Amino acid sequence: MTTACAPGKVILCGEHAVVYGRPAIAVPVTEVQAQATVEPARDGRGVVIDAPDLNRRLAVRDADDGDPLARIVRLALQAMEVKDEPDLTITVTSTVPIARGMGSGAAVSTAIVRALTTHYDRWLSSRDISDLVYQTELIYHGTPSGIDNTVVAFEKPVYYIKDVSCEIFWVGRPFLLAIADTGIESPTREAVGDLRRRYRADPGRYEPLFDRAGRIAVEARAAIERGEAEKLGPLLDENHALLQAMGVSSPELDRLVVAAREGGALGAKLSGAGWGGNMIALITEDTRGCVDLALRLAGAVQVIVTEVK
Ligand code: MEV
Repeated sequence: MTTACAPGKVILCGEHAVVYGRPAIAVPVTEVQAQATVEPARDGRGVVIDAPDLNRRLAVRDADDGDPLARIVRLALQAMEVKDEPDLTITVTSTVPIARGMGSGAAVSTAIVRALTTHYDRWLSSRDISDLVYQTELIYHGTPSGIDNTVVAFEKPVYYIKDVSCEIFWVGRPFLLAIADTGIESPTREAVGDLRRRYRADPGRYEPLFDRAGRIAVEARAAIERGEAEKLGPLLDENHALLQAMGVSSPELDRLVVAAREGGALGAKLSGAGWGGNMIALITEDTRGCVDLALRLAGAVQVIVTEVK
């Protein structure tokens, strides 16, 4: 029996603009994890996936290739050149909230690939795993930039430019983020598709917003590398205003962002595709308690604190 895990993630800055070629920063969130366990079976049923947290149980041979769980198993077996379908049971559990912009799909797929490679005593690089997982992101999200699978597979803060570069960078001094859940689903595919339609109708309106979001990512990386995380606060605030102007925020997200700032956060913004899902707030040990309380009073259904390092 072999078990492997993969973390969730949040986008620190640059979501949506990253789909249009601007840089973005994402960080892993190890407080939430997907876990996959591979056990040999002898029932002639091929690979069976049991994922109670996702409400799924399926035999890979019966699933079509549009099923992300079946697809990632097939891709991983192909990558390891396992020719005949083995008899295996893969049990998947996950504490990564689903459809909240925390990379649940990427975490589950990454955990499955890692558990299968360990089972077969094989090694795939983080880049190889990320590329396989991207194939399932296409099913979940339609036209993903690739940032989610990258940060989850590398498990490090990444500075990402679609189709151009993916850099793991140095965090000069660790800092804290509070991640608060609106309790509302964030439909990534729909939010990205809706913005794309509005962008195509009026590119001149959105290009400057994407440009500024990209520059924020550059400035944020520099501040993080210099160990000046407090400088991120105004950048997060400005990025939230840009995301509002892109039409991807929501009253619930805006309420949590305002509450976090009033509770003492140095800056706050929605994180991920928006319309629901999570927001993030830059906090310190001193403000942690007040911000947590302010977020819960403003309607957050869950608050997670993670250290970016
Ligand atoms: C989703 O986590 C981030 C978006 O920028 C979409 C993407 O990058 O694929 C909204």
